[in-house]
Amino acid sequence: MANRLKEDLVEAGKIGREPERRVEQYDHLEPERGVNRLACTEANRKLRDYAVMRMKEAGLEVKIDKIGNIFARKEGIKTSTGSIMCGSHLDSVPNGGQFDGCLGVFGAIEAIRRMTEDSFDNERPVEVVVFTGEEGPAFGMSLLGSSALVGKINMAEALGKNNTAGQTLDEALREINYKGDFTRTLEDVEYMVELHIEQGPVLHKENIPIGIVENIAGITWLMVTIKGEGNHAGTTPMKMRKDALVTASEIVSFVNRRANEIVDKLGSVTVGTVGKLNVFPNGTNSIPAKVEMGIDIRDVVKENMDSLKSEVVKFINGLGGKYGVDAEIQMPPLHFPTPLSAEVVNIIEQSAKQVGIQTKRMNSGAGHDSQNMAEKVKTGMIFVPSVNGISHSPMEWTEWEDIETGVHVLTQTLKNLSKT
Ligand code: HGY
Ligand code: MN
Ligand code: MN
Repeated sequence: MANRLKEDLVEAGKIGREPERRVEQYDHLEPERGVNRLACTEANRKLRDYAVMRMKEAGLEVKIDKIGNIFARKEGIKTSTGSIMCGSHLDSVPNGGQFDGCLGVFGAIEAIRRMTEDSFDNERPVEVVVFTGEEGPAFGMSLLGSSALVGKINMAEALGKNNTAGQTLDEALREINYKGDFTRTLEDVEYMVELHIEQGPVLHKENIPIGIVENIAGITWLMVTIKGEGNHAGTTPMKMRKDALVTASEIVSFVNRRANEIVDKLGSVTVGTVGKLNVFPNGTNSIPAKVEMGIDIRDVVKENMDSLKSEVVKFINGLGGKYGVDAEIQMPPLHFPTPLSAEVVNIIEQSAKQVGIQTKRMNSGAGHDSQNMAEKVKTGMIFVPSVNGISHSPMEWTEWEDIETGVHVLTQTLKNLSKT
């Protein structure tokens, strides 16, 4: 394992960890102390700056677009079109792990460093890309930077999204000095490759070093606000209450029960989660006046995702009468289940074979910017194992040996793709 890649990933893991700490092996992880590097926070800026420094050291020309996506380009010796984009994201979920997104960005920089050291003449341009706001918790919609890049959401709408501090994305980007004026279109891009941790149990359990993604699950979010009536916990008779949290608790159970029933009935990979629950005023002796919930529904089959979403919406709307509360549902643009490019899947498979690495074709339950990019360019993803399948948690880990294998296969894949 080249120390510089390990150094980059350990540095990435230090930034956003309170207090800042270098974690170089699994048993140094602390279950409560993960990485907080939400989009456009000071920690996110720090890591962006570090990544831009490493891109420039690698001789890449760096540009920032209007939504803070970073593009770092190595020209091709034969053509300036038909480029290959390669990268991921540098923002994290709250209390997340140190490899989600970072592996794809620093792995791409390392692959370019290795191509240069091998005096490999890439015929096509190769471009490292960092997408803004891949994780949804910061601005209320996931895959924000790549959604704007592919035109799924217009730039003004994306830049107008608010974070929990009430800032718009535009203001937050200016604050961290990543509001660029560059406009990147995708007409001259031929391929996109993203290296990422699996974030699931398959590769680690089956002891397979490389996964090749064929389909990425679709994601639907329901952001629900339930308004009841705050009151005194001691003096308010049970029959006179409008309890927002009791209403929310029925929704949590319904989402979980129905997702399980669909899985049991169809044998599908349907998932339903309520990962966000904010209670107001959140005092033990006050009846909850308001609850904000975030519901995440996914499947690789669009019909399954849509039908569970419709059932949940119907159930929520029916609760208003039962508890005397108002429920308001907002749905950010959803992400469809997405097949990746068969051509790129085959090239990744051949590249791994070329360097003697075993692979497995599989689906991704996690969402990725690649599912946006796949709408415009031929896209593939390379997975490496997640220890115990854990992610979006301080206990997220991938062994250094697997990281090296992932970057080795990525480098070979880029070499093969860069031939015109
Ligand atoms: O939510 C996801 O699947 C991704 O980590 N943004
Ligand atoms: Mn993630
Ligand atoms: Mn990710």
